Amino acid sequence: MTVEIWPVTESFAAEVGDADLSKPLSAADWQAIEGAFHTYAVLIFPDQRMTQEQHVAFAKRFGPIDPSMIVDLDGVKPRVLTDIADVSNLTPDGRIWNADSRLRGFQAGNQLWHTDSSFKEVPAKASLLFMRAIPPVGGQTEFADMRAAWDALPDDLKAQVEGRIARHAIAYSRARQGFEMSEEENTALPAVPQAMVRHHGYSGRTGLYLASHAGRIDGMADDAAAELLQRLMDHATRRRFVYSHRWRAGDLVMWDNRCTMHRGLPYNDLRWPRDAQRATVLDVAPTWEQEGLTPDAMAVAAE
Ligand code: OGA
Ligand code: MN
Repeated sequence: MTVEIWPVTESFAAEVGDADLSKPLSAADWQAIEGAFHTYAVLIFPDQRMTQEQHVAFAKRFGPIDPSMIVDLDGVKPRVLTDIADVSNLTPDGRIWNADSRLRGFQAGNQLWHTDSSFKEVPAKASLLFMRAIPPVGGQTEFADMRAAWDALPDDLKAQVEGRIARHAIAYSRARQGFEMSEEENTALPAVPQAMVRHHGYSGRTGLYLASHAGRIDGMADDAAAELLQRLMDHATRRRFVYSHRWRAGDLVMWDNRCTMHRGLPYNDLRWPRDAQRATVLDVAPTWEQEGLTPDAMAVAAE
């Protein structure tokens, strides 16, 4: 029996039935899943029971793992494997974090629209988020279809961004919420160049590539860049491009970071455990290289 693909929206999100991701997949199942991933950009696998190792093993079918970047946890041993990013509200010993925890301030950045690891030169291709425990209300994850957003973008804006490079940094997105990165963290993660428009060979579609991590645009004054980035963000996150996922415990949701943005909605994170664990797959090359662009060396020097 091959897995079943059930569209949730016309062309953006789909549920995959009869897939047990804890086991190796047959060739036919793998083909169906990979094909659906290229057509839809968000796949939902309900009712999974997986160890962390099985979660990572499924992610690795899509490519090498993007090791998680996390602020210093005071040297405590994390709750999860190094190949998994802990995006829960739990401390290493499994308790709900404190109101003033640094990790809480850092993770709040996930509530801004973003695409994973765009603050790294080679960003994430795919993310696979496994939800082990959910709050009864709130805490949905929203996804924006950057292909549909591109298709509907007015021509004058298309012309302004095609072939352009933006600079993304974790410090840019965290600054929007007043979270301060340490000097050490900023040195380790300087702003990186990213293509603003991506042409997806695997689907034949084009998408905006955008995130709250984007703070500057090469060859553009900073205030003009900020205004343009905000206009693009407003456009790309209009409700018609957005699928909002209400989690069930045991859902694994995977998304294509190359052509989507996402954000977590707030919930009472001091009351309810939300045990979300993410395996992240690396993209194949810097986005500017994939697009045949050359970052402006002067823009880097000006950082
Ligand atoms: C992520 C992320 C949002 C959420 O895991 O990359 O942004 O709803 N998560 O947990
Ligand atoms: Mn994310």
